[in-house]
Amino acid sequence: MSIDVGALRQNWPPPGNPRPIVIIGAGGIVTDAHLPAYRLANLPVAGVFDLDADRARSVAEAWGTRAFASLDEAIATPDAVYDLALPPAAHLDVLPKLPDGAAVLLQKPMGRNLAEATAILNLCRAKSLKAAVNFQLRFSPMLLAVADALQRGWLGRLIDVEVHLNLVTPWQLFPFLNGMPRVEIAVHSIHYLDTLRALLGNPTGVHARTLGHPSTTLAQTRTSALFDFAPDQRVTFSINHNHDWGRRFQDASFRIDGTEGAAMVKLGLLLNYPEGEPDELWITQRDDDWTQVPLAGKWFPHAFIGTMSNLQRYAAGEDDRLVTGVEDAWHTMALAEAAFESAAKPATPVRSAP
Ligand SMILES: NC(=O)c1ccc[n+]([C@@H]2O[C@H](COP(=O)([O-])OP(=O)(O)OC[C@H]3O[C@@H](n4cnc5c(N)ncnc54)[C@H](O)[C@@H]3O)[C@@H](O)[C@H]2O)c1
Repeated sequence: MSIDVGALRQNWPPPGNPRPIVIIGAGGIVTDAHLPAYRLANLPVAGVFDLDADRARSVAEAWGTRAFASLDEAIATPDAVYDLALPPAAHLDVLPKLPDGAAVLLQKPMGRNLAEATAILNLCRAKSLKAAVNFQLRFSPMLLAVADALQRGWLGRLIDVEVHLNLVTPWQLFPFLNGMPRVEIAVHSIHYLDTLRALLGNPTGVHARTLGHPSTTLAQTRTSALFDFAPDQRVTFSINHNHDWGRRFQDASFRIDGTEGAAMVKLGLLLNYPEGEPDELWITQRDDDWTQVPLAGKWFPHAFIGTMSNLQRYAAGEDDRLVTGVEDAWHTMALAEAAFESAAKPATPVRSAP
């Protein structure tokens, strides 16, 4: 192969002068990904706060950090960068209490719907917060490498992109989803919506269907969607979290076809969440074989280094762009909202026989 896949960028540069991270909400994602990422990257953690004090204490003990006794005590940490890992409905309770101008990372999604995203955006603007949403898939080693390959022109112009999932997701790990009217697109496929926007920009429209499954009471666990970009670009999702027929035909992939080359991404994490299988990235160019790109890390936890590093570097003036800042993330929420709106509309009726 004529291209040097080893040269592709796979990680975000670290902040020159890391600031102490105050984690608010100490649930599953914090121990699965935030704390492992910060440990790997030597980003200092000042402590954790959770409404469930026992939970905060046990996480603090396990990770050698401090459990704050109150939200006020956590917020008072000097020079802190705030890391909100809360259920989506709780962001609007905590954000107003942060000091004006603070740097803060909000776990995705940015509220439960576009109205909450807009309220969060307006609040962040009013308080001049340097606020980003933790849409971290685009910071994973494999997707940073795909973005770099695109930037270098190795794939040409993207003309066909498919996100394909056929697996079993252990939704029981996320009890807060029970009873929520919006599930699959709102908390899961939203990662792919955000990644599509990172690769292709904003689509002009979406056609979607999202539905549950007889095996679960969750509102939706399966989604199909088609996105309108340029007239010659076909972009589609086929997402099935209920393929419970063994590992053989389970799959989690992005297929990214350009005019000059193509990339295949395997989202290994999802095939045995949260332990996961290795992620994979393969790249080819016209008349060449596929080449596997050796990856310098995984979606979990490495991508979480990227979102926090970009926020800290932006706050310090080291990065000129807050990549998943609330101004950008709002468009991912707008796309999710459009998908739910589309899913509620009837399809083109099929005529009955004359
Ligand atoms: N890949 C990803 O980015 C990813 C993966 C999983 C979860 N998440 C997101 O992370 C968030 C948390 O998910 P989780 O799985 O850790 O949930 P969880 O239920 O395990 O943890 C949430 C924690 O927040 C605490 N909490 C709730 N309201 C609070 C408040 N006002 N102040 C302080 N603590 C509060 C709860 O007591 C609980 O310990 C969700 O928004 C979810 O969508 C993101």
